[in-house]
Amino acid sequence: MDKIIVTGNGPLSGQIPIAGAKNACLALMPATLLSEEPLTLTNVPRLSDIATMSELLQSLGAEVSTLADGRVVAMASHNAENHVAQYDIVRKMRASNLVLGPLLARHGRAVVSLPGGCAIGARPMDIHIFGLEKMGAEIELREGYLHATAPGGLKGAKIALPFASVGATENILMAATLARGTTVIENAAREPEICDLAACLSAMGAKIEGAGTSTITIEGVHRLHGATHPVIADRIELGTYMIAPAIAGGEVELTGGRADLLPAFIEKLEEAGVSVEETQGGLKVARRNGRIRAVDVRTEVFPGFPTDLQAQMMALLCTAEGESTLEETIFENRFMHAPELMRMGAEIEVHGGTARVRGVERLKGAPVMATDLRASVSLILAGLAAEGETIVSRVYHLDRGYEHVEEKLRGVGARIERVKE
Ligand code: UD1
Repeated sequence: MDKIIVTGNGPLSGQIPIAGAKNACLALMPATLLSEEPLTLTNVPRLSDIATMSELLQSLGAEVSTLADGRVVAMASHNAENHVAQYDIVRKMRASNLVLGPLLARHGRAVVSLPGGCAIGARPMDIHIFGLEKMGAEIELREGYLHATAPGGLKGAKIALPFASVGATENILMAATLARGTTVIENAAREPEICDLAACLSAMGAKIEGAGTSTITIEGVHRLHGATHPVIADRIELGTYMIAPAIAGGEVELTGGRADLLPAFIEKLEEAGVSVEETQGGLKVARRNGRIRAVDVRTEVFPGFPTDLQAQMMALLCTAEGESTLEETIFENRFMHAPELMRMGAEIEVHGGTARVRGVERLKGAPVMATDLRASVSLILAGLAAEGETIVSRVYHLDRGYEHVEEKLRGVGARIERVKE
């Protein structure tokens, strides 16, 4: 298994290009199942999660080809006759559950294994099921698989989500595009990835209003046609690399980055003393002198502080002057990076969903283990600011969500290399 070795090397400078959003792409790809005509995505990130989704769609009978060095994914689903998403593929990634809505809309039935993914909490699917049942689906769990049928076809419905789940909103949104009548999703997730999915579905001929607000209205149509859609920028990759100059010092421009994708995160960085400036090509982030100031962070659904940046923010706050509190409200088990950061000299106390971080002047390199996708990258960020060598093992998590992390960080002056074992 590969390891990544990071050696603290002082301030960073230069540019990091931001890729297309993994999470947007993982919802956009299953949308191909809704149409007989081809769907092509551009600005696709080159990640193992994208390869997993391709494999899943192919197992369902879709044709998937990658072009332009992986940046473009062309899909065609006219022969996608299979409606069973097997455990072997689904277990690799929770987002596999996003084929449920499209399969059900297309075939009137779907069998989807309960997903796997990062070990950051229970992550059940009750809200997805609740929404699809409101639309007339009958769903039961047998032998680890959700068996869903829509005997009379899916029907438009008013669905008030008990929690603004991103995945449930996406599944219901996709299913509703082909349902009979009008669906209204209340308390819908408002994440930028939802807006991107709605934009793509609209380009395919869907009738959607209100994406990006808490109420999304979808008027079902008979069929969707083909489209070409550029994937939105990855706000989590953006936020991650914004932390790099904040923790190591220096000034880095994130090309393709947009401030409106991360309002609460940027506010917290600025409160901590980091400068964030919009440029023609993206965002420029700098910490020129002095230590980071402690800040309190609470993860929330969009537009709040994203849970997917909590680990990276914790790494930063480990070096702040003073005591910070991080409250995790989205996932119940998402502080697995804390003990690893403590191996690097961080002072952290975790009580349930709250972590208290007392900043130290300097972290120290250590062998650490990546436990999930965002935790892995938080250890790399910590390594940028640590004295000596940080050796991060189990980096396969990282490859699920960050393309060319070593090249991107080396490009701004970091000392980082991958060692194959
Ligand atoms: C998506 C993102 C993930 C991000 C998360 C929250 C993708 C591929 N992944 O995941 O990176 O961390 O949003 O911003 O887009 N829940 C239930 N029942 C359900 C569904 C969810 O209880 O039916 C709970 C989950 O256990 C979790 C919380 O709701 O505690 C958030 O989940 P959700 O918004 O659905 O996240 P995902 O779509 O899985």
